[in-house]
Amino acid sequence: MTALRPTDLLDPTVFVIFGGAGDLTWRKLIPALFDLSQDRSLPAKFAIIAVDRIKLGDNPLRRRLHDGVNQFSRFGKANDAAWNQFAPHVHYQQGDFKKPSTYVALGDQCAKLEKQWGAKAHRIFYMATPPSMFGEIPKYLGRAGLARDREFARIVIEKPIGYDLESARSLNAVLAVSFEESQIFRIDHYLGKETVQNILAFRFANPLFEPIWNRRYIDYVTITVAETVGVEHRGGYYDHAGALRDMVQNHLMQLLCLVAMEPMVSFDADEIRNKKVDVLHAARPISRDAVPQSAVRGQYGPGNTEGKKVPGYREEDGVSPDSQTETFVALKLFIDNWRWQDVPFYLRTGKRLPRQASEICIQFRAVPHRSFPPEASLGWQPSRLVLSIQPVEGIVLGFQAKYPGPKMQLRPVDMRFSYRESFAAPSPDAYETLLWDVMKNDATLFMRADQVEAAWNLLMPVLDAWATTEPSDFPNYAAGSWGPDSVQGLLERQEHRWPQPTELVASEKTAAKHKRGSPR
Ligand code: BG6
Repeated sequence: MTALRPTDLLDPTVFVIFGGAGDLTWRKLIPALFDLSQDRSLPAKFAIIAVDRIKLGDNPLRRRLHDGVNQFSRFGKANDAAWNQFAPHVHYQQGDFKKPSTYVALGDQCAKLEKQWGAKAHRIFYMATPPSMFGEIPKYLGRAGLARDREFARIVIEKPIGYDLESARSLNAVLAVSFEESQIFRIDHYLGKETVQNILAFRFANPLFEPIWNRRYIDYVTITVAETVGVEHRGGYYDHAGALRDMVQNHLMQLLCLVAMEPMVSFDADEIRNKKVDVLHAARPISRDAVPQSAVRGQYGPGNTEGKKVPGYREEDGVSPDSQTETFVALKLFIDNWRWQDVPFYLRTGKRLPRQASEICIQFRAVPHRSFPPEASLGWQPSRLVLSIQPVEGIVLGFQAKYPGPKMQLRPVDMRFSYRESFAAPSPDAYETLLWDVMKNDATLFMRADQVEAAWNLLMPVLDAWATTEPSDFPNYAAGSWGPDSVQGLLERQEHRWPQPTELVASEKTAAKHKRGSPR
């Protein structure tokens, strides 16, 4: 979120990756850092130290990372000159994460680089390791004195931040022993997405919508994060986590906060994060007894997605054949404050759904009185606004318009803003934005300890209720369908609907259809 500066003006930085030989480094971190270098957004004095247990030298590591960059860089295959310029910045250090000697060697290496550069460097410690190491590495960093410099040392931690409220609290407490909260960057990659950041711009940089952004005009809100993919190669992790922990506790809660928060007074990290935490504090607690009325879980069976036959969840690698883990969650939440009292927020996410779509749909109330004759408005739909995050990036406002012709006939139409059409500049990957912000020490897009804990706190009754009652009907949706039928039961009123996603695409089709023929 910070404006770009020429590379020689950026502060010297050492970027240490624990788990430097792992998948996240290969797939996300190095491609993002390489892309930043292509945009001239890395400091001239910059080094990456990949730390991991396995035996590997600088060159074999660089070859491996080159392959990742070729596959995942947003610029496509890396050109040789660009890679050859970037690669010497990457170094490998073999070390056991649980041995003090690893941290001594790391400190020496950082000091050596600083001496070479003749300047003090920012030291960023990125935990790209299995979660079991999250509570360990910070302790060793602390003991080695590597966390001491409050301004120059930072730690970055990936989700999952804990497995439940208690473990999240313990992890935050461990982090707090060695690091101040201002040094801790908890990543939720959804916050790095352009369209997610645009929710703030849309709401608070335009005077048009904020006056109607409340219970007086909004009937209900849906938040959908639908994936067509299954668990891929992550069955072992996922079977232990499930959709509520994997997606709702973090990504969907962040979207909820951005949609429901009060306007911030300034664009300051803590100001924005305070406003987001307020939403979670105002969320109506779900009592254990009310879980069946507020939450639905599902697990996919065999089916078809994107024209391909796919196995059921229980047949996936690393998943137990009688797994009770949910791959789909739908929730109904209420925010008890002046703005949102009694407006339902319906959230859903799932794997192996028919389409990939992350969208927020704001459904406005119907007009108080219909002045048009009934036949004029057969397809009447109250206005709605769709904030589409992916795969189509844009905003659609649906409203009623007069269909051309002598009769008064109304039809729903769409007004569309598409990122692709409006901006020539391609969107950076979420990790680029977030890594850049860590380097600039800007925590706006990162989760603070209290926010993580408030999100767990809200969801704990659901997790507890589900842990004690086994689902009797799993698998209860076929891969390629929109989840279990029971999601309809969450809807508060008869006229409420789970929307068909990807309104941007749908609106293109509707426009084409309407062009083809008149309804008369
Ligand atoms: C991750 C989850 O945080 O987000 C994955 O662990 C999920 O299960 C992924 O597939 C979705 O992210 P995106 O950016 O593809 O929507």
